[in-house]
Amino acid sequence: MITTAKSAMDNVMRSLTSPVQPHDDELYLNPKQESTGQISAIDIRVKEFPPRYRDPHFSKYVLVGTEEQRAKQEKLIQHLRGMRSVIMYGNNGTGKTLLAYASMRDKIEKGYNPIYISFLALMNKIKESYNQNGPSLYRITEEYKRCDYLVIDEIDKSYGTPNEFLNLNHIIDARYNNCKPTVLISNSSESDIIDLLGKSTFERIVEDGLAVYMDWPSYRMRLSMR
Ligand SMILES: Nc1ncnc2c1ncn2[C@@H]1O[C@H](COP(=O)(O)OP(=O)(O)O)[C@@H](O)[C@H]1O
Ligand SMILES: [Mg+2]
Repeated sequence: MITTAKSAMDNVMRSLTSPVQPHDDELYLNPKQESTGQISAIDIRVKEFPPRYRDPHFSKYVLVGTEEQRAKQEKLIQHLRGMRSVIMYGNNGTGKTLLAYASMRDKIEKGYNPIYISFLALMNKIKESYNQNGPSLYRITEEYKRCDYLVIDEIDKSYGTPNEFLNLNHIIDARYNNCKPTVLISNSSESDIIDLLGKSTFERIVEDGLAVYMDWPSYRMRLSMR
């Protein structure tokens, strides 16, 4: 089917007015969008990424640190290229969000329907269900339980209420039962990550996936010295 830049923009406008609105920190991706002539549906979706991560590719990730750390990064990228669950945790600036967006892009290119959302944005969505006339908790969480690939960033930044992790566990458990990959990202240290997520969530993710402690120095420092 031949489509034009205008029909590509029409697709975007339609997706923006669909019942599921993208949140600032969230990306709702429709894999069924057809390839367009000059501007592909992939390009249009990638343009919705935050400017810092707008051109994310695994090939842009520079392997850093010791030989052991570089081997760990290679293994991580290999996992992120597949439909596998991953927990990335550790130091700030080690490329967790960059790799998450590279993985998002990779999934879009493969025709999947991935969602990226920060934990805080997810919790804000869930809070909408507390309003009397708001959507039900079931309706809100369904999207995250069902999507092909879910990235939840900054798990360590939340309001700190126990309900938050109950809701997170509920989503992860449903995804685990349906063999759907989930990527969780946190700035936690090695000793804190299991406490933060809870043992059962941690084990569900790593059962078919990988947990990687990003213990190399921040790349931001390297960028600031250029
Ligand atoms: N290994 C790397 N190779 C190239 N760029 C990197 C690497 N690690 C981080 N960056 C860049 O450094 C900045 C911080 O990375 P980011 O993914 O936001 O870190 P984190 O989410 O771990 O705090 C971004 O601009 C990112 O593109
Ligand atoms: Mg980050």
